[in-house]
Amino acid sequence: MDAPQEKLLFTPGPLNTSPTVKQAMLRDLGSRDDEFTGIVAEIRSELLALAGTSAEDGFDAVLMQGSGTFGLESVCASGIPADGELLVLINGVYGRRIAHIARTLGMAVWELDWDEDHPVAPGSVEEALVEHPEISHVAMVHCETTTGIMNPLQEVAEIVKSHGRHFIVDAMSSFGAVPIDMSKTPIDYLVSSSNKCMEGVPGFSFVLFRTEVLEATKGAARSVSLDLREQWKTLEETGQFRFTPPTHAILAFRQALRELKSEGGPEARGSRYSTMQEMLSEGMLELGFQPYLASEVQSPVITTFRYHKDSAFDFEGFYHRLTESGFVIYPGKLSEADCFRVGSAGQIGVEEIIALLVAVRTTLEDMGVTLTPV
Ligand SMILES: Cc1ncc(COP(=O)(O)O)c(C=O)c1O
Repeated sequence: MDAPQEKLLFTPGPLNTSPTVKQAMLRDLGSRDDEFTGIVAEIRSELLALAGTSAEDGFDAVLMQGSGTFGLESVCASGIPADGELLVLINGVYGRRIAHIARTLGMAVWELDWDEDHPVAPGSVEEALVEHPEISHVAMVHCETTTGIMNPLQEVAEIVKSHGRHFIVDAMSSFGAVPIDMSKTPIDYLVSSSNKCMEGVPGFSFVLFRTEVLEATKGAARSVSLDLREQWKTLEETGQFRFTPPTHAILAFRQALRELKSEGGPEARGSRYSTMQEMLSEGMLELGFQPYLASEVQSPVITTFRYHKDSAFDFEGFYHRLTESGFVIYPGKLSEADCFRVGSAGQIGVEEIIALLVAVRTTLEDMGVTLTPV
């Protein structure tokens, strides 16, 4: 078999994982095996601990097969009563996706929208909640990966709680690298996935939730495979998944959790990502690429850059040349600006960022782009 060419991923995920995380997958375990069910229980309680809480404090964690979107859909399809009304705070593609999921499920959906370079404004959320008492739940993306913008989690969580509504957070691109303490930040459902800042491999999402809130949704499920409450009850009663679990991805995740701990937890990981992000932004500016976001709202995880102004620059050519050299970046997803994205998360460090910047410079020179610092 030909050895595959290794590539470095500077993407929103899946991301580069450590050799030891990949190694941990090289075992076949049965889904009813005691060792496997013990690993699932360990992961559930470790996830709660990462979020500053525990089962004793009235929270629990459930793993859900499928990617992050499946986790979000499981919350909408069974964590919100069918007659609930959902306000979605939108400043990018992933907020819009939550609204799409909820509408597809037949729910009443309200939207508050911001430009993609503007964070959610807590004051407008408060006004909407005062004006519309029928809104029962609010959903927000913490780090909107469309641009890499950070939304104000604590402020919005407090407003939602003070108005007696439930709060759902998409923490796909933050959990594991941006500290979130659910004992201090009032969140009812937090959804994230195995393959982003947790640095595991793709295969499942997970939901951390207030048990009394999910408990109260008995009979509300509008999906069988994405019935979060049923998944929770079965895990509690039998330790097992209802349907085939991604055993290998779960083994990798247990190792990824251990590596997150030995790195020093989300704070230390976030600080590694921040160092890389700052180095990336500075280096790209020198090569003529303007970051799309203001630095105050920029996350450590992914950065959006505007296209180079030189007429010799074309993104497709740039992307393919970089990929051929072993560096994978990501196209943009913005509605109103020509941009692309570069991730600074996963098992990479400053050496990889330097190597990427060298490759970007060489690629631009090969394309005949004049390198003018912005
Ligand atoms: C903020 C956010 N929410 C949701 C998703 C969807 O996750 P998935 O592609 O794993 O379904 C992503 C994926 O990039 C994301 O970044």
